[in-house]
Amino acid sequence: MDAIEVIRAKRDGGELTTAQIDWVIDAFTRGGVADEQMSALAMAVLLNGMNRREIADWTQAMIRSGERMDWSALDRPTADKHSTGGVGDKITLPLAPLVAACGAYVPQLSGRGLGHTGGTLDKLESIPGWRASLSNSEMLDVLRSAGAVVCAAGSGLAPADKKLYALRDVTGTVESIPLIASSIMSKKIAEGTGSLVLDVKVGSGAFMKTPSAARELAETMVALGTDAGVRTVALLTAMDRPLGRAVGNALEVEESVEVLAGGGPADVVELTVRLAKEMLEAAGVSGKDPAKVLQDGSAMDAWRRMITAQGGDPDALLPRAAETLTVEAPSSGVLTRLDAYAVGLAAWRLGAGRARKEDPVSFGAGVTLHAKPGDLVREGQPLLTLHADETARFERALEALEDGYAVGEAGQELLPLVIDRV
Ligand code: URA
Repeated sequence: MDAIEVIRAKRDGGELTTAQIDWVIDAFTRGGVADEQMSALAMAVLLNGMNRREIADWTQAMIRSGERMDWSALDRPTADKHSTGGVGDKITLPLAPLVAACGAYVPQLSGRGLGHTGGTLDKLESIPGWRASLSNSEMLDVLRSAGAVVCAAGSGLAPADKKLYALRDVTGTVESIPLIASSIMSKKIAEGTGSLVLDVKVGSGAFMKTPSAARELAETMVALGTDAGVRTVALLTAMDRPLGRAVGNALEVEESVEVLAGGGPADVVELTVRLAKEMLEAAGVSGKDPAKVLQDGSAMDAWRRMITAQGGDPDALLPRAAETLTVEAPSSGVLTRLDAYAVGLAAWRLGAGRARKEDPVSFGAGVTLHAKPGDLVREGQPLLTLHADETARFERALEALEDGYAVGEAGQELLPLVIDRV
C-alpha cells in the first residue's frame, strides 16, 4: 500500500477500506507517511467526508497509535466531560470536583487554548504551583485522594492525533466533522473513562455555528463512544454569548471558585449542575443532588484537594493584569448583543490566548462582563473591563469589540442555554 493510492481514493470521492485507514494512520505515526501527504489526505477528507464506518475505523486506528488507560482498579465508576470549546467556558473547574463530591471519579485529560477559545490547562496553570503534567501513577494517586484529576494528555496517548492536529491547524483542515469527531473521541476513549458527557457548543464563539451542524457532530461522537463501550451522551449548549461574566485564565478561576462557594453567575451554575447530573446518570451513580452539593461545601473541599494534590495552592493570590480599561455603555437601553466571538477575540488580543502553540499566555489578561444580553443598562455605566499587562494591547481588543455589542430597544433572540440532548 502507499500513501498516494489512499490520497487518490479519497480525493476522487471513494470510501477508504479498513485496511487503508489502518495502514495510513500507522505509517503516519511512525513517519512513513510524510506530513504533506497526510495534509493532502486531511484536505480530501474535509472536502469529501467520511461515512460512519470510515470514521469509526479512523478513530480506532488513532486509539491504537498509543496507549489506552485503564481505571478498572478504582472502586467507583468513572465519568468525564468534554467541551468542544468556547468563550468563558470554565465549567470543568467547578464540575470535576462537584462530580467527585457526588461519588464518581473524574479522570480528565484536558487541553490548552488555541485561537479565541480558552483552554482548561491554561486556566488552572494560573494557580501558583499547579502542575498540568502528571505520570499515569500520579494521575491515579490524585484520583484516589481527590476524586478528580485534570491534567495534560501524555505523549503516549493517541500520538497520531497529536501529529495530525498540528498539521490540520496550519492547513485549514480543522473544520471537518469526521476529523473533529475522531480527534476528540480517540483521546477520550483512550483516556479510559467509563462514561462521557459531551458539551457541544453552538454559536459565533464555537466551532459549530448552527444547531444542525452541532447535532451532526454530537451524533457522530455519541455513536463513536457508544460503539467503543463508553456510555456517551451529548448536550448542545449556547455559545452565541460568553458563559458567565469572566473570560481569561485567572479571571475564570476566580469565577469558578465563586461557584464552588455556592455563588457565581446563574448560567455557569445551571450548566455545571446539568452536566453533573448527566455525568452521574451516565456513570450509574445516584443519591446526591449536585445543586445541594455545590451549596454544602463538599465540592469546594474536593476542589481544594484536587488543586493541592497537583502542587497548587488553593489559597494563593491569583495573578492580576497590570492595566485595565473600562468600556462604557454608549446609551441607555437593553444590551441587545454581546457576541461570544468578539469577546473571545478581544481576550485573545489582550494576551489571554496564544497565536502559536509555543507562546506563553498572560494569566491575568481577559475581559470582565458587567452586563449580559437582555440586561438594562444606563448610558456611561461600565459594560466591560479589559485586563492586560500592557496598555498597547487595548487598541486591537477594542477593534475586536467594535461590532460585538449593541444597546437598543429589543433583546436579541438568544439561544437557550441547553438547546438539545443527543
Ligand atoms: N478538539 C480536538 O481535540 N480536536 C479537534 O479536531 C477539534 C477540537
